[in-house]
Amino acid sequence: MKFLAIFSILSLQIDCQMLYKLQCPVNNYAWGAKGESSMAAILALAGNHISHIDPNKTYAEFWVGTHQNGPARVIELGKSLEEAIRENRELVGEKESEKLTFLFKVLSVAGPLSIQIHPTKAQGKILHSKDPKNYPDDNHKPEIAIALTEFELLSGFRQHSQISDFLKLYSEIQELLSDEDRVQIDNLGSFGESSSKALKIIFSRIWRSEKSKLGVVVEKLANRLAGQEIKSQLDELIVYLASLYPGDVGVFAPIFLNHFKLQPGEATFLEPNMPHAYLKGDCVECMSCSDNTIRAGLTPKYIDVESLVEMLNYSETLLPKYIPNELADHTKLFTPKGIDEFWVQEVKGSTGAKFDLPFAESASVLTVLSGSANVTSAETRKPETIKKGEVLFISASRCGKNQPKIEISEDFWAFRAFQPSSSAISNFQN
Ligand SMILES: *[C@@H]1O[C@H](CO)[C@@H](O)[C@H](O)[C@H]1NC(C)=O
Ligand SMILES: *[C@@H]1O[C@H](CO)[C@@H](O)[C@H](O)[C@H]1NC(C)=O
Ligand SMILES: *[C@@H]1O[C@H](CO)[C@@H](O)[C@H](O)[C@H]1NC(C)=O
Ligand SMILES: [Zn+2]
Repeated sequence: MKFLAIFSILSLQIDCQMLYKLQCPVNNYAWGAKGESSMAAILALAGNHISHIDPNKTYAEFWVGTHQNGPARVIELGKSLEEAIRENRELVGEKESEKLTFLFKVLSVAGPLSIQIHPTKAQGKILHSKDPKNYPDDNHKPEIAIALTEFELLSGFRQHSQISDFLKLYSEIQELLSDEDRVQIDNLGSFGESSSKALKIIFSRIWRSEKSKLGVVVEKLANRLAGQEIKSQLDELIVYLASLYPGDVGVFAPIFLNHFKLQPGEATFLEPNMPHAYLKGDCVECMSCSDNTIRAGLTPKYIDVESLVEMLNYSETLLPKYIPNELADHTKLFTPKGIDEFWVQEVKGSTGAKFDLPFAESASVLTVLSGSANVTSAETRKPETIKKGEVLFISASRCGKNQPKIEISEDFWAFRAFQPSSSAISNFQN
C-alpha cells in the first residue's frame, strides 16, 4: 500500500512537466541562402540537426513543429514529437492535440519567394471544398515574421496615390489596360471606396492578361530600366525580378506593394488577404499549420488569378509593422490579433539573468539563436542546459501555478512558440 502511494507520487512528479530536446529538419528550397551564409544552416549545424554544411547547397528553412513534411523528433525517446504526445497526453495542455497548431521556422532568404496571400478561415473552407488539390486544408494561415538580420520584403498595397504615380512612371504597364481602365488611374487616391474599386479594376486587368502579352510588356519595361544610367531602388528591384522571372506578372508587384526593410527585432504580421513576398535576409516566422496559399507571381507554380483578384484586400496599408507587448521581465510577447493558434515570446537576457517562462499551461518549443541557459522545469528541479541551435520542448505544466525558470549562462537570445490557452487569451489584454 505504502509502496504504491510513493510510486504514484513519483510518477505524478515525472508527469508534472517534462523537458525534451528536439531534432528538427532544415530544407533546401532554391531561394535559401547558400552554405554558411545561411543562418538556418548555421543553427542546424550548431544544434547537431545536420552533420555538416555543404557550401554548394541552399539552406532555406529550419522547421520546428509536427508538420508531416518536416516533423520534429524527441531525441531522448527516439520518436516523433507527435508520437510522444499521442502516447502521453499529459505533455500538452487540455485543449491541445498531438499535432502542434503552429509551425515555427527560421528562414534564410537569398532570392525572392513567390508573392502570395492567405485566406481567412471562412474563405479557407470555401476554397478547400471547391478545389482540394490546390487548397489542401480548410484553415486560415496567418503569419508573423520577426527580422533577425536586416530583412527586405514587399507587403500590403502602397498608398493609392503613389500607385497612380508609378503607373504613369512605368507607363509600359498601361499597354495592358483598356481605355476605360486607364481612366481609373486618376481615381487612385480619391476618397472613399472608389479608390479601392479603381485599384481592383486595374490590378485585375493586369493579372488576367494573356501570358504572351504580359511577357512582352514585362521585358519592354525591364529593358528600358536596365538601360537607364541612373536607377532608383524601385527600378533596380524591377530589373532584378525580371532577370529571375522573365515575363512573370510578379515583376510588377513592387509598383503596387510597399517595399521596405525590417531591422533586427522588428516584426510584421501578415493579415488575411494582404499580399506579400520576402526578398532577402533572415527572420523567424510563426504560422498556423496550414498550406493555404494563393500565389500572385514570381513562381512557376499555379496562379489562381480569379480567387486572387476577388480575395485581395485592396486597402492601402501604412508600413505594416507589428509592435509586440513588453512583459514585466523585459521579454517580448507577440500576440497578433484574432489568432488563437500561436503566440511567440522573444526570450533575451544577459549572463546571470534569471526569470520565469510564463503561460506554462501550454506546451511550448524554445529555439535558441545564441548563448546558453539552464531551464528548470516547475517540479523536477533538474536543469536542462541549452545552447545555440538547440530546440527545447517544454511540456505543459501540471504543477499548478508553478512556471519553469530560465537562468542565463551566456548572453542569450531565443524564441518560444506556443498555442495560448483560452485563459491566457482572455486574461491578456493586447
Ligand atoms: C561545389 O561546386 C563546385 C563547382 O560546381 C565544385 O567544383 C566543388 O567541388 C563543389 N564543392 C562541394 C563541397 O561539393
Ligand atoms: C484591409 O486592410 C486594411 C488595412 O490594413 C484593414 O484596416 C482592413 O480591416 C482590411 N479589411 C479586411 C476585410 O480585412
Ligand atoms: C547550468 O547547469 C549546469 C549543469 O547542471 C551547471 O554546471 C551550471 O553551473 C548551471 N549554470 C547556471 C548559470 O546556473
Ligand atoms: Zn505567406
